[in-house]
Amino acid sequence: MKRIALLAVGISITFVACTSKKATTSTASPADVVKEMQTKYTDIQREEGKTLWQGNCQKCHKLYEPQSRTVGKWEKVLPRMNNRAKLTDEQAALVRAYLISNAKV
Ligand code: HEC
Repeated sequence: MKRIALLAVGISITFVACTSKKATTSTASPADVVKEMQTKYTDIQREEGKTLWQGNCQKCHKLYEPQSRTVGKWEKVLPRMNNRAKLTDEQAALVRAYLISNAKV
C-alpha cells in the first residue's frame, strides 16, 4: 500500500514537472519573432529604434550590429543591456524591434 502511494506521488511530481516545463518554453520560432517585429512595428518605429540603438548602445562598447547576433542571442542579451543603457520600456521595445527584425538568421 505504501509503495503504491509513493508511486502515485512520483507520477504526479513527474506530471507537474512536465507541465510547468511546457508552460515556460516558448513555442515561437525565431522566424515567428522576426515576423512579429516586422508586422507589429512600423518602419518609422524601427527607424526610431535604430536611432536609440546608435545613441545608447555604444557608450560602453562598440556598436554591435543587428546581424552580429541571432534572435535568440539578442533576446538573451537585450534585457541586461537595456538595463545598462537605462532605456524606458518603450525605448527598449523599439530597439528590440530594430535589432530583431534585422538579426542574423
Ligand atoms: C553601461 C554600459 C553598457 C551599455 C550602455 C550597453 N552595454 Fe552592452 N555590454 C556592456 C558590457 C560590460 C558587456 C560585456 C559583458 C556582458 O556581456 O554582460 C556588454 C556586452 C554586450 C554584447 C555582447 C554580449 C554577448 O554575450 O555576445 C552585446 C551584443 C551588447 N552588449 C549590446 C548592447 C546593446 C544593444 C545596448 C543598448 C541597448 C548596450 N549593449 C548597452 C555594457 C554596456
